[in-house]
Amino acid sequence: MQLTAEQLQKVESLIDQMTLKEKIGQMNLASMSIVGGFDVSFEEMIEMVTDGRISKEKFGEMLATSEKDYHESEIRDGLVGAFMSDDPKLSNRLQKIAVEESRLGIPLLFGFDVIHGFRSVYPIAIAEAGTFDTELMEKTAAMAAKESRCSGVNWHFAPMLDVARDARWGRVSEGAGEDPFLTSEFARAKIKGLQNNQEELTDYVAACMKHYVAYSASEGGRDYNTTNMAVSQLYNTYLPPFKAAVEEGAASAMASFNDINGIPATVNAFTLRRILKESYGLNGFVVSDANAIRECVVHGIAEDDMDAGIQAANAGLDMDMGTEIYLHNLEQAVSAGKVTVSVIDEAVRRVLSVKMWLGLFEHPYVTENSMDRFRTIPVEHKELARESAVKSIVLLKNEHETLPLNPSQKVLVVGSLAENKEEIIGAWAMSWKQEDCVTILDALTEQGISYHYHAVCGPDGELDKEQLTAAMQTASESDVILAVVGESVSMSGEAASKADISIPGHQKELLKAMKETGTPVVAVLMNGRPLALAWEEENLDAILESWHLGIEMGHAVTKVLYGEYNPSGKLTATFPTMSGQCPVYYNHPNTGRPGSKSKFTSKYLDAGFDPLFPFGFGLSYTTFAYSDFTVTQKLDRMVYEVTVCNTGNRSGEETVQFYVRDITASIVRPVKELKGFQKISLEPGECRTIQFELEKANMGFYNDEGAYLLENGAFQFFAGGSSAQVLMQELRVEF
Ligand code: BGC
Repeated sequence: MQLTAEQLQKVESLIDQMTLKEKIGQMNLASMSIVGGFDVSFEEMIEMVTDGRISKEKFGEMLATSEKDYHESEIRDGLVGAFMSDDPKLSNRLQKIAVEESRLGIPLLFGFDVIHGFRSVYPIAIAEAGTFDTELMEKTAAMAAKESRCSGVNWHFAPMLDVARDARWGRVSEGAGEDPFLTSEFARAKIKGLQNNQEELTDYVAACMKHYVAYSASEGGRDYNTTNMAVSQLYNTYLPPFKAAVEEGAASAMASFNDINGIPATVNAFTLRRILKESYGLNGFVVSDANAIRECVVHGIAEDDMDAGIQAANAGLDMDMGTEIYLHNLEQAVSAGKVTVSVIDEAVRRVLSVKMWLGLFEHPYVTENSMDRFRTIPVEHKELARESAVKSIVLLKNEHETLPLNPSQKVLVVGSLAENKEEIIGAWAMSWKQEDCVTILDALTEQGISYHYHAVCGPDGELDKEQLTAAMQTASESDVILAVVGESVSMSGEAASKADISIPGHQKELLKAMKETGTPVVAVLMNGRPLALAWEEENLDAILESWHLGIEMGHAVTKVLYGEYNPSGKLTATFPTMSGQCPVYYNHPNTGRPGSKSKFTSKYLDAGFDPLFPFGFGLSYTTFAYSDFTVTQKLDRMVYEVTVCNTGNRSGEETVQFYVRDITASIVRPVKELKGFQKISLEPGECRTIQFELEKANMGFYNDEGAYLLENGAFQFFAGGSSAQVLMQELRVEF
């Protein structure tokens, strides 16, 4: 986000004209339903007042007026800086009040959760990152920016950049997986896609990278839980994607709910002020997560609303989402000398800069033309959603070449996930329409494949015994069974942590029954997190990881099932053998007793050491062989060279992965770290020698003082098709 000198000047001149109250108004993000964009009933609201999420004063004011009038009069008085909405009519109405009826006419920002697509919903991030295709990631973000801006949304609460290593945490679905490098590449692509197409006003939005920071490291994978970690860990694992996003010009950040070593991210001056603003140089603003300022009282680090507001403002949190604590307390805090006017001015300068950069002062409204632009989804958006969906699919097992299927095979489909439109879109998609959604059954029907279908059961609810009996009968007359199983959308995303991440409900019974019939079983998985699949891996013939792929899910899955597309997706997160192995991730530090067959090593007696499927893993309908791996050292970089051959009889795409390990560092370093990847396409029998250059400057690490160190010594270099299947070279490196 770059502003011209003239724009910066305009921001300053506005600040000069603003009263303290108007300035504080810019630090206030309101929403029609107050909390996180969700509708709440009167009873729920009472509960929220009781547990402190809404103040009694606000509740009283809202009862006295209607909620709508309440917000309108606040906007008129210049007391709202941003609003949460994806409704263009509503945003135009409110914008008109802000621009034409408030004293200074400052336009509103309209924020919304557009996490993986607006109307054209594409795959959840954990899946999309598995395409290892950053151009594609950029394109899908640009598509979401266009569609949403035409609906009045000019600020996305995305990208979600939490490096997530614990599959129990429901929000693993929203991010790019467990690797800091891949998540950083994802971050760059998404910021570019959202923000960089500035020729047309309706083509870009302000990004809000979240959740800053270490939210995903919550203890036990339980959402909102405490986070405790060494500073080196924070710098090496959790901060890199945010640093990358700031380098690409991210316009804003959202502070996370968790505490980091005892200080909630909302009031954490070290992470907000010192790292994000001073060290990384974010020039946009930081917003709290929903109601998080008030939750600081609940955390037990603030006496009351006023205290929480003072701590947050002083820590560098520029905007309050949902509590109005700033609005009702900061004026008094300034009079009492607890917050300086320069802290307030800094926040306002950042918020106004984003509005200026978005062109809102000149073009505050959504035009009728724009509103009409995406009334139906353009073909190219559907195609892009399909391309990202098909490339996200990961083939986990394929015994006896069960896949691809042949259209003449008799197919039995079981599992209600195959037919439910609302289950393909994934957590946090809110602006989609049923009419755009293509389920697996829809796609099979459309393609004229004749199949039998018995739902039998879904991820929750009962198992229909009659349907099971019918399915078993049909199975004996079928050539193959497609068991569409996994998780419902509500089982991942926010507040969806699970202690048991095996296939839920009665679906395992269904799989076992299908297995008993003797007909080959293909599990088509739909889920928002890595699952524990030991039984499935041992017993089923093929497993296709299809995640929640968005509106084009059905088309994407059938393309892969019938071999129209040769699967190329790779896992962005490790799959454990059992839930109890969590957290399990490929880039872990070494112990003094690495897990092995011998008893006194770091492992579980019942689950061993190795995960079921490692990071970077994914099969194809063809096979690839790696050979001739060399690494040479230049003054400023290391040059990897490896030959990859397609040894099967189909053309296919492979993601060649490059890793490194520092084996003589001053702190224990990960056993492998991804440093680069290249996606290549090879014809049967074709070989290609791939070169990858790793800058030596990127081979260091941060220590507990946050200092970046490059230490001479021995390193291992790896190249391969997954984090576990690699060729290795060892060299001494001099910096
Ligand atoms: C979530 C954020 C989201 C916000 C606004 C919160 O509950 O943690 O990710 O952006 O709500 O909807």
